[in-house]
Amino acid sequence: MNASLPSPVSQPVVAQLTRAAIFLVLTLNSGKDSETTVRAVCGDLSALLRGVGFRDLAGRLSCVMAFGSGAWDRLFGEPRPKGLHPFREIHGVHHAVSTPGDILLHIRAARMDLCFELATQIMARLDGAVTVADEVHGFGYFDDRDLFGFVDGTENPVDQAAVDAAIIGDEDSAFAGGSYVIVQKYLHDVKGWNALPVEQQENIIGRHKLSDIEQLDSEKKPYAHNVLTSIEENGQELQIVRDNMPFGEIGKGEFGTYFIGYARSPDRIEQMLENMFVGKPPGNYDRLLDFSRAVTGGLFFVPTVSFLDDVAADVAPPSVTDDIEPQQARPRASSGDGSLGIGSLKKEAGHE
Ligand code: HEM
Repeated sequence: MNASLPSPVSQPVVAQLTRAAIFLVLTLNSGKDSETTVRAVCGDLSALLRGVGFRDLAGRLSCVMAFGSGAWDRLFGEPRPKGLHPFREIHGVHHAVSTPGDILLHIRAARMDLCFELATQIMARLDGAVTVADEVHGFGYFDDRDLFGFVDGTENPVDQAAVDAAIIGDEDSAFAGGSYVIVQKYLHDVKGWNALPVEQQENIIGRHKLSDIEQLDSEKKPYAHNVLTSIEENGQELQIVRDNMPFGEIGKGEFGTYFIGYARSPDRIEQMLENMFVGKPPGNYDRLLDFSRAVTGGLFFVPTVSFLDDVAADVAPPSVTDDIEPQQARPRASSGDGSLGIGSLKKEAGHE
């Protein structure tokens, strides 16, 4: 990174776990007008977030906006984040599906009304430019348990370890401060799960249900969820930042977990998925999947707040074949200082 440039401000990927969240997966409608509208919202996101979030600062409203591979080319062109590609389906013992999605909005707060208001305001601005592919309203369930009754999130990295796990550094300097995110909506067979003896459930998760204490390594089954999702490279654990949320609709008999994982490279999340769906070694798959089915799957790139603030609505992205320098390549305003005229009024702190 160039030492003379201010370091980019990351979106609130590593925000603390909250009691409420809305996950919106959108597809981008055809036509240049749709692209212009989305670019305008990128530039205005900070202001929208401040407007709603300031009504209750204790509510810790945050929003992450992320883009799928195809949408990136349409909206921003070159350069592309190195690891951005469409979500790869996995056909293993179980099936990890890939489903349509160009834009992800991950909205979190202590209260659902804040999430709901921000989602409504953003969607009003996106009107006509996008179509909702999937919408999930997640809620905190007792002591951060999933609907299978286990505490979910305990081993998440925190503070600097979370930043190290989720935020891109020098490995892709044009996109330093960004992140990758994979989402999957899982629907549970709660009846089937509850019919299992608790000991068997604990062996599947690799932790004790009531106390949330991890099983001893000597007790853990090779197929335990926390065995298959613990991965290493050169003796170093590769972590991700998860913010899963339970959701459901009782009348429909729908109970689920919305999986969301952030990482500085999609590879590590993909490796975990491979271990879960195919098995490690193949066949030693995650038994959680016998009781929970992935019905969506998407991979998105999370640019920095600085990048979003500087997106200009009316500047078409350079073609993916143009050979130009990264800093010139982004669709920025022509104000000469690399920012929109109004961009200087935007407080980035509103994203925290
Ligand atoms: C139905 C979906 C899922 C449920 C209900 C679920 C639930 C859980 C629970 C209860 C734990 C133990 C507590 C904790 O450390 O958070 C856990 C750990 C973990 N899960 Fe999941 N999970 C799901 C999907 C996934 C997926 C798709 C991934 C990755 C691709 C993943 C990655 C992890 C990781 C990395 C850990 C921590 C392992 C450790 O270091 O001990 N999970 N999950």
